Amino acid sequence: MLSAARMSRASRDDSMENLSSLSFEEAPLIRTEIPGPKSRELMEKQNAFETGSRTYTRQFRIAVRRGRGSTIEDMDGNVFIDWFAGVCVMNLGHSHPVVQKAMVRQLEEITHINEMPTESRISFLETLNSTLPQGLKNSARTMFTVTGGDACEAAVSLARHVTGNRTIVAFGGAYHGVAGDIVRATANYHYRQYAGIALQDVYHLPYPYSYRFPVKVREEEMSSFIVSHLEHLLRDPYAGPGPVAGVLVEPVQGEGGYVVPPSDFLPMLREVTEKYHVPLILDEVQSGVGRTGRIWASEHTGVSPDIMCISKSIGGGIPVSAIVYREDYDRNLPGGFHLGTYRGNPVALAAGNAILGYLRNSDVLERVNVLGRKLKSRFEEIARRYDEVGEVRGIGFMVATEMVSDRKSREPGTAIASKLKEQMFSRGVLMHTCGHYSNVMRFMAPLTIEERLIDKGADIYAEALDSVTKDTKH
Ligand SMILES: Cc1ncc(COP(=O)(O)O)c(C=O)c1O
Repeated sequence: MLSAARMSRASRDDSMENLSSLSFEEAPLIRTEIPGPKSRELMEKQNAFETGSRTYTRQFRIAVRRGRGSTIEDMDGNVFIDWFAGVCVMNLGHSHPVVQKAMVRQLEEITHINEMPTESRISFLETLNSTLPQGLKNSARTMFTVTGGDACEAAVSLARHVTGNRTIVAFGGAYHGVAGDIVRATANYHYRQYAGIALQDVYHLPYPYSYRFPVKVREEEMSSFIVSHLEHLLRDPYAGPGPVAGVLVEPVQGEGGYVVPPSDFLPMLREVTEKYHVPLILDEVQSGVGRTGRIWASEHTGVSPDIMCISKSIGGGIPVSAIVYREDYDRNLPGGFHLGTYRGNPVALAAGNAILGYLRNSDVLERVNVLGRKLKSRFEEIARRYDEVGEVRGIGFMVATEMVSDRKSREPGTAIASKLKEQMFSRGVLMHTCGHYSNVMRFMAPLTIEERLIDKGADIYAEALDSVTKDTKH
């Protein structure tokens, strides 16, 4: 158990609320068949109007009534433990009073006002600045965008503008979004000059994913293997990619499988990109806002990027994203360089200011480190009993178990992960997958989740895994 002393600082501060009471007490509670009758009714109506290409509704088949803390109640009164957090968006949980109050206060003033300053915008910028990596703190500019993908696009456009080059080096397993390229249909060349990333403009290097690295390299040599290859690309005009505009990387890979790189990877990338004057772009869209136990995942290695992409939890559920970049990159940047109607929604920024402030002034990050390590140990202990768990890995509240058909072959256990997700859902826990083969179970609960809901969820994971692996053997 976390000691009372550890939890107390949050409640001592007047602006903080006691974390222990946010979630529904009774979670998980399954009262009806799933989906229940009211859920079914709304789902049928949804099917009649909305696209059939939805993804999440195929997995979590409920209509939602409300969320509290790390729990969700469906329309039939079933209560689920939320290990999903809207894909790392609700980092302080659902209906967090500190965030809600900030949002309501802003809603009562104004909801949308393009880029004109509001108090919430300026407070957010000041608070964000106070959290930045050393190389950006007090010497950065922020450009607001709307989604994570939008921020990554803006980052790439900026890197191209700064260097005059086109090619971006990215990594296998990367996920930076799926939006974009519509700029090519916009007629004004001014907007197209740096934007839009064609496939031939991207060169992928392998990410240091030791469990599935494409060549045999010792783990301690993996970073230097990759970064030497990068240096070759930057130095040798015959290497292939041409002049490089930027290196785009997730400090911890999200959709790619919750892959934590060796601790020397980012520092080595930093050294080489600096040597060749190539902007280093860190995509903190998923790993940021406390998810790894620090506000920004880059803090674990002390690396400051030239450009940083942030989104998801900074809006408390309202879409907002941004790039934060070296202030010298702002020189000669024309007005409307990366423009749009929505650039920093005031309600989202009021939430973001409250969230970043809460992370800085409470013990949440310490909890994430303690409870994340505890859950990882529990997963490791469970894994020892099953040949189908290939690897347990993670940092903070990015904890994952990679499913395989058996440890020897390491064949991806996609069907096992899918059944496990289904079994956990039917027992009242929302747990989602990721990974190259959708075979990685990932824990991404709100950072404020109560310890009992981690323990209970882990018990359910163990029961479900037992049932799924027995089924596959028969
Ligand atoms: C690391 C990373 N970058 C970018 C994105 C894209 O964000 P969005 O879905 O808001 O476009 C995601 C989404 O999961 C992500 O995890």
